[in-house]
Amino acid sequence: MSKMSKTAAVSLILQFNVVFLVLLLSHASSQFRGAREQAILIKLKEYWENPASISHWILSSNSTNHCGWPEVTCIDNSVTELKLPNKSINGIIPALICQLQNLASIDLNYNNIMSEFPKTLYNCSKLEYLDLSQNYFVGTIPDDIDTLGRLRYLDLTSNNFSGEVPSAIGSLQELTTLRLVANQFNGSLPHEIGNLSKLEILDLAWNSEFKPSKFPSSFKNLTKLKRLWMSATNLIGEIPDFIADMTALELLDLSRNKLTGEIPYALFLLKNLKGIHLFDNKLSGEIPQVIRASNLTAIDLSQNNLTGRIPSDVGKLEKLSSLVLYFNQLSDEIPESIGRISTLADVRLFGNRFSGTLPQDLGRYSMLEKFEVCSNRLTGTLPKHLCNGGKLLGVVAFDNNLAGELPASLGNCNSLLTVDVRRNGLTGRIPSGLWTSLNLSMLMISDNMFTGELPRKVSDNLSRLEISNNRFSGEIPVEVKLWRNLTVFSASNNFFNGTIPRELTALPSLSTLLLDQNQLHGSLPSDIISWKSLRTLNLSKNQLSGQIPEAIGFLPSLDQLDLSGNQLSGHIPSQLGLLRCPDFNLSSNHLTGSIPKEFENGAYSNSFLNNPGLCASTANVKLHICGSQRNSLLSYPQDLIWISSIAVFVLCLLVSFLVAKFCWKKNGGLGRWEITEYQTVNFKENDIVVGLKDQKNKIGAGGSGEVYRVDKSGHGDFVAVKWIRNKKNPERELEKEFQAEVKTLSRIKHLNIVKLICCMSREDSKLLVYEYMENGSLYQWLNKHRTSGIILDWPKRFGIAVGAAQGLCYMHHGCSPPIIHRDVKSSNILLDSEFNAKIADFGLAKMLIKQGKPATVSSVAGSFGYFAPEYLRTWRIDEKIDVYSFGVVLLELTTGRKPNHGDEHRSLAEWAQHYYEGGNSILDAFDEDVKEACHLNQMCNVFKLGLYCTRTLPSLRPSMRTVVQILLKNGPPPDYQSKNAEKEYGMAHLSSCNHIVHSV
Ligand SMILES: *[C@@H]1O[C@H](CO)[C@@H](O)[C@H](O)[C@H]1NC(C)=O
Repeated sequence: MSKMSKTAAVSLILQFNVVFLVLLLSHASSQFRGAREQAILIKLKEYWENPASISHWILSSNSTNHCGWPEVTCIDNSVTELKLPNKSINGIIPALICQLQNLASIDLNYNNIMSEFPKTLYNCSKLEYLDLSQNYFVGTIPDDIDTLGRLRYLDLTSNNFSGEVPSAIGSLQELTTLRLVANQFNGSLPHEIGNLSKLEILDLAWNSEFKPSKFPSSFKNLTKLKRLWMSATNLIGEIPDFIADMTALELLDLSRNKLTGEIPYALFLLKNLKGIHLFDNKLSGEIPQVIRASNLTAIDLSQNNLTGRIPSDVGKLEKLSSLVLYFNQLSDEIPESIGRISTLADVRLFGNRFSGTLPQDLGRYSMLEKFEVCSNRLTGTLPKHLCNGGKLLGVVAFDNNLAGELPASLGNCNSLLTVDVRRNGLTGRIPSGLWTSLNLSMLMISDNMFTGELPRKVSDNLSRLEISNNRFSGEIPVEVKLWRNLTVFSASNNFFNGTIPRELTALPSLSTLLLDQNQLHGSLPSDIISWKSLRTLNLSKNQLSGQIPEAIGFLPSLDQLDLSGNQLSGHIPSQLGLLRCPDFNLSSNHLTGSIPKEFENGAYSNSFLNNPGLCASTANVKLHICGSQRNSLLSYPQDLIWISSIAVFVLCLLVSFLVAKFCWKKNGGLGRWEITEYQTVNFKENDIVVGLKDQKNKIGAGGSGEVYRVDKSGHGDFVAVKWIRNKKNPERELEKEFQAEVKTLSRIKHLNIVKLICCMSREDSKLLVYEYMENGSLYQWLNKHRTSGIILDWPKRFGIAVGAAQGLCYMHHGCSPPIIHRDVKSSNILLDSEFNAKIADFGLAKMLIKQGKPATVSSVAGSFGYFAPEYLRTWRIDEKIDVYSFGVVLLELTTGRKPNHGDEHRSLAEWAQHYYEGGNSILDAFDEDVKEACHLNQMCNVFKLGLYCTRTLPSLRPSMRTVVQILLKNGPPPDYQSKNAEKEYGMAHLSSCNHIVHSV
């Protein structure tokens, strides 16, 4: 017995010792492993060139110290997670990293890693989460990527991966999230993704170089998929019915593709769907009746070609909160039943052909927030109860045939930001409470038949008051001085009388003041000088008298002045010569004496008409010469000018024709063309050369040469040919450099860069043959728009901004060494038949300048407004000068202004910075022709991005890569669950546009 117990006791002690020993050893080994892993992290830091962002990674005697670094997560003192987003990491991902044996998660989002896909990670056997988004990875995704078989999360967004997505991606069976947004894939859509049965999020958007493909049928197996984002992935064909098999879908975005056909019935069987984005497709047909069966809370079918009516059953969607159908061709009445949906908050039906009266119960039973029905054919009155819920942000109903009065209830609706009912047949007085509604910032009621007088008091937030073309009467009250935030006051063509009160000059933010066509009398206020922001002043067609105050000449921002059709008298103050108004009209007054010298210039020939007492010292304006007998000479100088200018014109034409002919002959005898092909060339050199002989084919001329449109096969198959003539024999060195650069360019294949097909070279000329772009240059469009009223709408402009940015981004970040354009401007952004933007003339600008003299004044002046300040000072060239020029293009797109802003002392960029810093409302800077309520927020963001890009200090400007990020975010937001989707189009955001803080 005792023997037994003795043995037992010994064995117990022994066992205890073993356990203790094991514990001790494991503690030691854990310490040892800790020290080892810490050393690995330190080495990683060295590999990555010691970024300052992780300078706190220092070796410590505490072997688990690194587990306390914010970028590192440990379990049982072993590293499992590395979180390194935006740490300025350069270099590559070394094999060393997988010596962290328990590493399961790596986040390297937004760094500067430039390499092929890091196969070094294949040794990280526990890796489940990999985020390499927003780096400079190139090449293809390797076809053995399924070695990383444990991956649950893979994000390769915003890199320059290209080629095919390998089928092996379909073997990553554990994936729940796969994001490949914004790369350069040009193979086919990877159907194997359909094998990923656990997938919940699939984002493939912004890869428009995928081969055209139908919606992959394999995707129907993705029964767990909640989000499918395939915007701009070159989808064609119809949306298939099997989409109903993807039962978990909550968000489906197929916008910006080439889908056709009707919206499938099946879409409405998806019970979990919270949002559908199908805009910018070519879908047609009617909205199916079946929507009754679903749990839909939101319908967005905007921007398609839908026809027919809204199904009357829509009222049965008891959970519907948002009905967004704008920009279609829907017609008939809006069903009464939507007025009874108690959850309805957002109604956007603008830009359709709806007729009949509005559902009178709208707003009565639900908390309506957005009500946008503009640009339809609606009749009858506005619904009475719109603001019953007290949440209404706007009444946007312009361009309809509405009649009757504004509902009295709007006078008691403090949530209102905007009332825009312009161009209807509304009558009566404005409900008195509306003027003072707490948050009201825009009251736009022009072109109706409203009556009444201006109030004494308005909302403190009112910035835009547009009441032109109505029947308002009475005087402008002196209390107007309290309307401190007013930027636009437009009250043309009413029955206002009395004088222009001095108090009106006290408004510091006023930028537009239109009081023309009223019955105002008396003289102009003389202390006008406080109108620091005033850009447009129109007081024409009143009965104003007295002298023009000198102070007008000192208004710093004025660029439109119309005082015509009054009884102004006396001399024109010479100070007016300080103004640089392209639009300047003093005609039909009683002015006398000579005009300021600055206006003796043909541009102002219509500015002084019908002022018998005025004279000029030259014959450039339609006035008699001071001191001469005016009656006999009145029309003679005009005729003479006409005749002589016609003669000169004809002569010029003749001479240039002869010169051209002569040159052509001479060129004919200068040897053979040497052709360098960069693409398969399917035409003969002679077809091109013959095309150049016909001046009809000439479509443009710039500093570097003329551009011709040549039909290469005689069947309307065009190419663009740039003809560069060498003045002298080019120097050898330059010639070589030119060839080298052309070669680099020819290797670049990017959707947003114009393709160079071949280069033909001869002693005296070079011909660069490019793909032909049907829609010419952005410059032409912005100018056509200015002169003939053809409008490049905002969605197109935004698409152009994104495309051009991607092209530049590729040149800066996807090419090694980076290629800098040096001459980014709207005339170098070309548009194909679908208004896709492509950058042209890459890198050649510098070569051409060098080839001639050093940059001549005229070649600089040609692009004035686009050059970054440091370029003009130092001729320093890096990527940031392109970023600056691109910023100017963004400002052009949003404001519609020219890059030199019609003013030789201030560029558009300088003007915009000044304007913004002056606290002015961005909304007022926008191009009026593309300003639509639904795009304002996006326009604001693009305008701000323009400011960001045109900062004076190059280091403060973003990289093109960041620019692309910002623009893409502005498109469909990557996270639909958030409120962003709302913000993007929402009116709720309008007000923030007015008081944007310096967030850039
Ligand atoms: C070692 O570092 C870890 C992580 O920062 C910390 O939790 C632990 O208390 C430290 N140990 C000693 C002995 O200081």
